[in-house]
Amino acid sequence: MPEFPPSLLNALRSARRVAVLTGAGVSAESGVPTFREAQTGLWARYAPEELATPEAFRANPQRVWDWYAWRRGLVAAARPNPGHRALVGLAKRYSGFRLITQNVDGLHQRAGSRKVIELHGNIARVKCSEGCGPAECHDGAGRPPPCPRCGAWLRPDVVWFGESLPPAALAAAHQAAVECQVFLSVGTSALVYPAADLPIQAKGAGAVLVEVNREETPLTARADHVLRGPAGEILPALLERLS
Ligand code: OAD
Repeated sequence: MPEFPPSLLNALRSARRVAVLTGAGVSAESGVPTFREAQTGLWARYAPEELATPEAFRANPQRVWDWYAWRRGLVAAARPNPGHRALVGLAKRYSGFRLITQNVDGLHQRAGSRKVIELHGNIARVKCSEGCGPAECHDGAGRPPPCPRCGAWLRPDVVWFGESLPPAALAAAHQAAVECQVFLSVGTSALVYPAADLPIQAKGAGAVLVEVNREETPLTARADHVLRGPAGEILPALLERLS
């Protein structure tokens, strides 16, 4: 069982409002690849500008669709891990608990988390590439389907490079960050903005900032507590110590 500093346990025991920001690292132990890790990260094997930009989709919708279909398959085959489940348990302890995720895999919801703030969309949903809005996903023929309203390609409902985050999700995340007493940044490289700004906003507004990560990140130096190790071990152990 990892050791936790008493001041961290005290902060978590006395808090009423806790916010958690998760990244790909929380799903790594479910077998979902992260983005930036050497060798195994998606961006080590694939070029983001060919797969995760609106320009890439316009240039080659089939290639982008196929790549997301492959990732949807990975996610469908994955199961929530003890890290996801510990966050469900943590939510039960607080009247004000907000879970903010950069992940598009839906594993928090499958673990039982409710009202998850999805900053980068969800890979299981599709929407019109020309802005008509959400649509049903029919992936039968393996080809990008047309929008039932305007006939343009449907695309994954995820945020691509160069695109804005969904405004309602970003506003909810910002509010959660500035209102919480403890903010946990879990399994994220803290490199992609505006998500990476949330822990800084939380700390600026007076929250105790906690990082859970296997590696050092740009956030490490700003964190009040750094819990080094896999989220699937640290989070359940933390929940147990609080209980
Ligand atoms: P990254 O791949 O950038 O970072 C994953 C982080 O998880 C790294 O800091 C790892 O050290 C850490 N990590 C790996 N395994 C872990 C484990 N078992 N427990 C704890 N930490 C672990 O992923 P994100 O930070 O999520 O955006 O990336 C942010 C965004 O960049 C993604 O949402 C995606 C990507 O481009 C979009 O698709 C819009």
